Amino acid sequence: MEPKLQAILDGVRQAKGRVVALTGAGISAESGIPTFRGAEGYWVVGSQNYMPQEMATHEMFERSPEEVWRWYLYRFGVCRHAQPNAGHAALVALERAIGDRFTLVTQNIDGLHRRAGSERVLCIHGDAAYVRCAGECGVGRLDLPPFPPRTKDEPFSAADRARLTCPSCGGWLRPHVLWFDEYYDEPNYRMESALSATSTADLLLVVGTSGATNLPMQIGRLAFERGAALVDVNPEENPFAELAARSPRGFFARGSACERLPEIVAALAG
Ligand code: APR
Repeated sequence: MEPKLQAILDGVRQAKGRVVALTGAGISAESGIPTFRGAEGYWVVGSQNYMPQEMATHEMFERSPEEVWRWYLYRFGVCRHAQPNAGHAALVALERAIGDRFTLVTQNIDGLHRRAGSERVLCIHGDAAYVRCAGECGVGRLDLPPFPPRTKDEPFSAADRARLTCPSCGGWLRPHVLWFDEYYDEPNYRMESALSATSTADLLLVVGTSGATNLPMQIGRLAFERGAALVDVNPEENPFAELAARSPRGFFARGSACERLPEIVAALAG
């Protein structure tokens, strides 16, 4: 491990500092789940009929709920068949070592952090395991009904429609995910909780995100302006690596989550 990174982590450990980990799609890449903006990313490969990012909008869901559900059910099937990797496991070990000094803020809806054993998780972009009533009738958050495995081009069936009918009002259920034409909030996406945890963090550990989204960048800038330690794990340059480079207690740990997180967690957990 690079001496400067070791010194930063030793300082956080010795001070019994609070740690916020902020993860993106990159931490699940080694589990076989495509990222969004990489070469095989979801926003790059897309679907047959629409620009990919159109699929992740409330406007598209209103216009064509079957098409949006078809796309999400395929993605959710990919998530369900993926397994947590050494990066997810390292963050579980860190949570178990430092307890309530740890908070995990994830943009990922794939559920791999939860399946790896993380409990102190704020899912700021939602979670594929849940659905909500699209008409907001008040039924609250429900478990996504079980679905058989499906191919990318599987048609939307009457059975699918029945499974995705609100049990309270009979309208559509929607994925519990944040769409591009919607806003972060606390009830569904834990925005205030994520910013509050960052406001008292001694270290922000960023893993596998390109910095393309609003709240994660707010979190990065807040940690930087507070002078918290800032470590970024990513094989490629990105805005968090730039913030780390400008921070006296910052470090860009170039590499993959599975390569870098186990040694970083070992240094933090002692
Ligand atoms: N380990 C760590 N980082 C990796 C790995 C890996 N093995 N493989 C790729 N990465 C990095 C890439 O270099 C990139 O910086 O992960 C990042 C993935 O970036 P994106 O595909 O943009 O994913 P993310 O940053 O999570 O996107 C944020 O945008 O579209 C929305 O809701 C969507 O949650 C998503 C959000």
